[in-house]
Amino acid sequence: MSTDYDFIAEQYKRAKLQPWRTHVETFTFLQHIGNLDGKNVLDLACGEGFYSRVLKSRGARDVTGVDLSEKMIALARRQEEETPMGVHYEIGDAKTLRSNKQYDLIVAAYLLNYAANPQELGAMLQTISHFLKPGGRFVTVNSNPHLDFSSAPSYKQYGFETAVSGEWKEQAPIKWRFHLEETVIEIENYYLSAATHENACRAAGLHSIRWHRPTLSEAGVFEYGAEYWSPLLSQPPLICLECSK
Ligand SMILES: C[S@@+](CC[C@H](N)C(=O)[O-])C[C@H]1O[C@@H](n2cnc3c(N)ncnc32)[C@H](O)[C@@H]1O
Repeated sequence: MSTDYDFIAEQYKRAKLQPWRTHVETFTFLQHIGNLDGKNVLDLACGEGFYSRVLKSRGARDVTGVDLSEKMIALARRQEEETPMGVHYEIGDAKTLRSNKQYDLIVAAYLLNYAANPQELGAMLQTISHFLKPGGRFVTVNSNPHLDFSSAPSYKQYGFETAVSGEWKEQAPIKWRFHLEETVIEIENYYLSAATHENACRAAGLHSIRWHRPTLSEAGVFEYGAEYWSPLLSQPPLICLECSK
């Protein structure tokens, strides 16, 4: 099974409102994305445009969002029509997308974990390298390949759970179940090791590869207390990866 976002576009948008997204995911991702002033940014696997809008509002000069799902892009375009920000959205596959455009920065929130094998991961990183200007950076937030999801703690208190059926090995499917107010959505992606990611980056001509564990905003500590975040931060299911061309 590969997750078809055409069926869950609206619900996935609501899953972005869970507090761990704000206080851990977005907080950490933006820290590593850094200064956006004047930058030309490509948001790969942009979904309904959550990060595309955030990056434009934080000073990026131009933002293009690309996603495989027609419904996700329709939802992103609808929001752009309702509140114009100047973000451009296109349907495309990050494994095969090509054009002569070049970007200072490429971001991707939960793209690489849709690579079902090292070849697909390699294809995604070749695309990223193709679109990056020399000296440009790629920053992603992704499922954490340093975590053995088969023995991960419960994350139910944050509104989601993860599960692995079968042996924990390269290409093992990981199920994410998001508990939303009125429904539950399930998403499946794949485990590929940190070494497989690093090899694919190098093979695509990307260097200065760094992994960044998630961190917590002060507001998150203030609102929920430090203890609440302990399972998420001690065995984080998400991580950032950064590299340069
Ligand atoms: C978990 S959602 C994340 C969406 C968005 N980045 C966010 O954080 O809100 C993953 C997205 O990856 C997209 N996706 C999966 N494989 C893709 C591919 N090969 N090329 C482009 N988008 C892809 C899906 O359609 C989906 O919208």
